[in-house]
Amino acid sequence: MFPSSTLDAVQATVKIGLLGCGHVGGALVAILQHDADTIAAQTGVRLEVARVAVRSMSKERTVPIPASLLTHDAASVVADPDIDVVVEVIGGIEPARTLILDAVKAGKPVVTANKELIANVGQELFDAAAEAGVDLLFEAAVGGGIPLIRPLRESLAGERIRRVTGIVNGTTNYILTRMAEEGADYAEALAEAQQLGYAERDPTADVEGFDAGAKAAILASIAFGGRVVAGDVYREGISDITAADIAYAGRLGYVVKLVAIAEHVADDDVAVRVHPAMVPSTHPLASVRDSFNAVFIEGESVGELMLYGRGAGGMPSASAVLGDLIDAAHNLRAGSVGRPLHLRPVHLRSIDDLSSAYYLDLEVADRPGVLATVAGVMGAHGVSIKSMEQEGAGSGARIVFVTHEARERDVQACISELRALDVVSRVGTLLRVLGS
Ligand SMILES: NC(=O)c1ccc[n+]([C@@H]2O[C@H](COP(=O)([O-])OP(=O)(O)OC[C@H]3O[C@@H](n4cnc5c(N)ncnc54)[C@H](OP(=O)(O)O)[C@@H]3O)[C@@H](O)[C@H]2O)c1
Repeated sequence: MFPSSTLDAVQATVKIGLLGCGHVGGALVAILQHDADTIAAQTGVRLEVARVAVRSMSKERTVPIPASLLTHDAASVVADPDIDVVVEVIGGIEPARTLILDAVKAGKPVVTANKELIANVGQELFDAAAEAGVDLLFEAAVGGGIPLIRPLRESLAGERIRRVTGIVNGTTNYILTRMAEEGADYAEALAEAQQLGYAERDPTADVEGFDAGAKAAILASIAFGGRVVAGDVYREGISDITAADIAYAGRLGYVVKLVAIAEHVADDDVAVRVHPAMVPSTHPLASVRDSFNAVFIEGESVGELMLYGRGAGGMPSASAVLGDLIDAAHNLRAGSVGRPLHLRPVHLRSIDDLSSAYYLDLEVADRPGVLATVAGVMGAHGVSIKSMEQEGAGSGARIVFVTHEARERDVQACISELRALDVVSRVGTLLRVLGS
């Protein structure tokens, strides 16, 4: 479409050192092999993958890569004076951290998709990039192909953001969607997700909320300009959610989703958490099905907005890396740099001090006075009942409560006391209700 010889004459070539050529790196190479001319015509920068570092030199690649570009020595790519921009898509903390620090110290802009790194040692990397006066961009680290970091950092730069609520893990959203729509239990839905390649053989990082927690930390840092790391995030996963919980939620007009919430509570207080929640079926996040992701942002001036799309996958994530790459290459050629990221210390509000409405499921003895005993314990802890439903009779009778808004600390104290009652045989799932 665009004769490359003509374009080469007018467009500066920016040479990329690609660290990692797996799902994301391979997809980036494929896009550039196909679209480099179009990108050059549209943006004025010609991107060329000049070197590619991988772990195994003999592994078959999904894209043809000349053997002369491949190396297993990632540090030599970073140090290569011909390399203008470094793209890190290796993952994990080391050697990614050292490679990125070396690149920025050498004055090279870096693009990374590495959520683990940004959520744990982001501050060190941002400081190093600011000191060196180079870009460090990481759009793909949260929400894969969904533009989130740039909208938050640029379009909403002056916005007083109140809350960011995201469905940021495709694996758990897929599992919960199958449970809701097919009545599958958790183990069945997980097995199906594993079969389809949505879940790893060891699904812990996804189903226990670690992946979403890292993304929540990054979203909180960007939305509020505060230092929040993965370890600061309160976290619960979905592995205890039952098909019955989801069916009850459906009957009450809710869907169950694993949500990541970053909230501005007061002054420099922020609360960041990941847990399953009952989302009203009228809420925009309720319609986010299967492995899709979405982030719902509430701001003082902008009101409510939602960004939706593919939160993972090689191609969607490579699309986000490419956008960063074009930005970094453009700035490099222009001799400029984007606004550095300075994060200030913030105070993290404990979940114990937050309030919500709750869904609580109890198995009780079906005999006179049980309900009054349970309601008495709840009332004593300031947890008032909004609605209640009883199912079954005999020793396995089940009562499901939805409460009015209550403090987490009080609800947890109430649950401890309920557990100790001889008329309560089991305290089941506790779910927070979104939007209460
Ligand atoms: N996959 C997604 O959907 C997705 C979405 C958003 C963000 N991300 C992030 O993107 C990053 C990459 O993910 P991915 O799924 O593309 O991972 P991947 O498929 O496992 O690819 C990792 C690549 O890094 C290479 N590598 C590993 N250690 C290396 C070393 N010491 N030196 C040089 N190369 C090394 C591997 O080489 P070999 O090929 O030789 O093994 C492989 O090519 C991660 O930070 C991930 O969190 C991924």
